[in-house]
Amino acid sequence: MSSKLTVDRAQSESVQEAVVSSILSERKVIDPDTYFDDNKPPANLRWANGRVSEFVAQQPKERPIALVTSGGTTVPLENNTVRFVDNFSAGTRGSSSAEQFLASGYAVIYLYRDQSLQPFNRHYSHNPDGVLGYLDIVDGKVVVKPEWAEQMHRDLELFKRYKNANQLLMVSFTTLSDYLFLLREISLILAPLGPRAMLYLAAAVSDFFIPTHIMAEHKIQSGSGDLTLRMNQVPKFLRPLVKNWVPRCFIISFKLETDSELLAPKARHALEKYGHQIVIANLLHTRKWQVWLFTNSEPEPYLLQISKEDIENNRDIEHYLVVELARRHQEYISNSNQL
Ligand code: PMT
Repeated sequence: MSSKLTVDRAQSESVQEAVVSSILSERKVIDPDTYFDDNKPPANLRWANGRVSEFVAQQPKERPIALVTSGGTTVPLENNTVRFVDNFSAGTRGSSSAEQFLASGYAVIYLYRDQSLQPFNRHYSHNPDGVLGYLDIVDGKVVVKPEWAEQMHRDLELFKRYKNANQLLMVSFTTLSDYLFLLREISLILAPLGPRAMLYLAAAVSDFFIPTHIMAEHKIQSGSGDLTLRMNQVPKFLRPLVKNWVPRCFIISFKLETDSELLAPKARHALEKYGHQIVIANLLHTRKWQVWLFTNSEPEPYLLQISKEDIENNRDIEHYLVVELARRHQEYISNSNQL
């Protein structure tokens, strides 16, 4: 497991060039506000506004609040959608982190892709027999199989505890458009909390989409042979989020790459471009064991990785990650109070 995230000078320059050319091509991207004018809001937007406002208003004043986004967005190919392009993310990072934020005393708004992993439920979705694979019938009664009983008991107890304490609110999305409308709505509700609110943007957000007005209305027919797709670039919503929606909140974005040479320059570039607090960089194939925290105040990234022993004991990297982030968030709150 390599923890090296540096590249030699020549490599670094070619990586920078790649980053710059992608920045140049971003100039052609549509304005984020236009996106909201041209796309339809999700059916649960009004419900989410009401529930999130109520949830936030009911929290004790000293309790920090985290918006955790999780799972991948889809982009439909047809208005009457039969086919869509999906973004990779199981929701492990988000669901495990949400559990850790709750354990650290946060109220959590969990904005997640419908059907992706959810806090306290996440260990029970991989059985080939579905939920029935965890159950048995003994003396005519349905019971949890003994090998699952202890963990399920623990998870159910925690889930109920946080729900009863009004510490956890779940809001779901499916498409890119659902996600963006909900993200903006929830951000604007959190904005007045300032430093007390954290945004932890772990969802995998599509970079390309087909605008509604040029999308096929009905199912694309296969009769005319191969399908060529041309997709527009999605505006980077981190810019309005940081600048306009939640300028005083504590914002953590993620940077996912598959090429290790691109990771550090792209993470640094995101920090410089958007000016938020932390970028967490991860590589697709090692994301469960190592992540790097980039900030504008530290010259080198902070490496967080878990040991073989952690892995054997089913201890997730999010356990350590969230403890570190909660500490930094507290510092941010204290520094903001002194201003
Ligand atoms: O769920 P798992 O299987 O555990 O996987 C976790 C993860 C790998 C998905 C997660 O750790 C992660 O890296 N999430 C971010 C993935 C992503 O969208 O990365 P990106 O490099 O494409 O985007 C960087 C940031 O810009 C993200 O915070 C994203 O929210 C934001 N973005 C992206 C596209 C867009 N149009 N607007 C944005 O603001």
